[in-house]
Amino acid sequence: MSATKLPDGPTISPLQQLINWLARPYDFLDDCAKKYGDVFTMRLMGFPPLVMISHPQGIGEIFSADAKQFDAGRSNEILITLVGENSLLLLDGDRHKQERKMLMPPVHGDKVKSYAQIICHITDKVASQWQPNRPFLAHKAMQNITLEVILNAVFGLSEGERYQQIKPLLADLLDMTGSPVRAAFLFFDFLQQDWGAWSPWGKVVRRRQQVYDLLQAEIDQRRANPELVGNDVLSLMLSARDEDGQPMSDRQLQDELMTMLVAGHETTATALSWAFYWIHKLPEVKEKLLQELANLGDNPDPLTISRLPYLTAVCQETLRIYPITPIAFGRIAKSPVKIMGHQFEAETTLTPCIYLVHHREDLYPEPKQFKPERFLERQYSAHEFIPFGGGNRHCLGYALAMLEMKLVLATVLTNHELALANNQPVTPKRRGLTIATSNGVPLIMTGKRLRQSSFEAQQISSV
Ligand code: HEM
Repeated sequence: MSATKLPDGPTISPLQQLINWLARPYDFLDDCAKKYGDVFTMRLMGFPPLVMISHPQGIGEIFSADAKQFDAGRSNEILITLVGENSLLLLDGDRHKQERKMLMPPVHGDKVKSYAQIICHITDKVASQWQPNRPFLAHKAMQNITLEVILNAVFGLSEGERYQQIKPLLADLLDMTGSPVRAAFLFFDFLQQDWGAWSPWGKVVRRRQQVYDLLQAEIDQRRANPELVGNDVLSLMLSARDEDGQPMSDRQLQDELMTMLVAGHETTATALSWAFYWIHKLPEVKEKLLQELANLGDNPDPLTISRLPYLTAVCQETLRIYPITPIAFGRIAKSPVKIMGHQFEAETTLTPCIYLVHHREDLYPEPKQFKPERFLERQYSAHEFIPFGGGNRHCLGYALAMLEMKLVLATVLTNHELALANNQPVTPKRRGLTIATSNGVPLIMTGKRLRQSSFEAQQISSV
């Protein structure tokens, strides 16, 4: 291949490719891989060509490359209206490295473990509102839980008026891109016209401003009360100084707070709603999980729960089969680069394709089947199982997300007998930049379990 020619890819028009990408992303990726193999070029209207890579070797070469070889923040410009230009998601180079280092501690290592009790407590609180025989949406319930958890990590508190105000506004803002048609507003900048409070984009702009105003109010309060400092994300950012001794500006603080709130809550809520779907769709999976949890006895330690092999495998398989984002961030080559023997010129965007590597028959036999056992039988490398991306852009919140998934599932399953509320097929559907369940997974509570090692279900008399 000559240095200038990109690998082949779909020949339908860029507009048609974009429509497929919005309306049927996973089927479209399957079609492309079948026809063009491990490396192909997708052309989406309004975007530079994306070279999709779904071979673990190529993905490994990208993730292990020197951080100076690729920019990734530049490829996330689509997010600027949501999280602002100072967001970690949009930064590159030294500034990315520095801010990543600063934002990491509150969602990493021992600090993450300290969220265990809070996660279980918040889960119990949300689940206590479920009424027998009254269907509720798993997605909404999970949003409630994950938003409270991330508010805790970001502000160090989960109570208070401001948090009660932020919660519905943020959920509403994300709902505004919650269908393929509404997601189009993110992809087509010509649709981003503020024609007043009732126009679709006008609503997004106003909601976002309301969230930003609340963030600013919190920043002002913290600046005025330095004694409120803790080791939450906001406290760490307020005390940070750059090389010239300057603190972060209000605008920088707002954008990074928004980044953590947006990146940290909808993703985990979506993953959890998929997990609830699979567990209740497949009785043998639920049975094995309940058995594993029952073997722990009464009041198990949350960290012991987080190490359970089958529970971990269920979470991994959930993230494998329908990853929350179909692709990792595009990596824009800063100089010519060779990946899997293909020579690419500077400014080419190389995109590790999470969905396609997770659906390789050679790695995951019967890839369309939900089989947690595969993760017990084999160890997958960091280039084969990549729900959180990799390299210098590896998801900042992966440890929190995994802990949260396991503890929420264990807490709910231990105490509640749930079932799918109907037999409607659940399929992947675009929700902004993530791929969620088509119907939010309606569930129904059919019983409460006794907190006993036998996990004997106590049927609710009204059921
Ligand atoms: C199941 C839940 C989640 C999934 C599937 C997920 C997935 C991802 C993926 C695929 C990336 C891009 C990585 C790459 O391109 O290599 C990413 C980046 C990121 N995620 Fe997550 N994420 C989740 C939860 C979270 C949580 C809980 C937080 C915050 C606490 C978070 C914060 C971030 C941030 C800040 C980045 C940007 C990192 C950077 O640019 O250096 N994510 N995530």
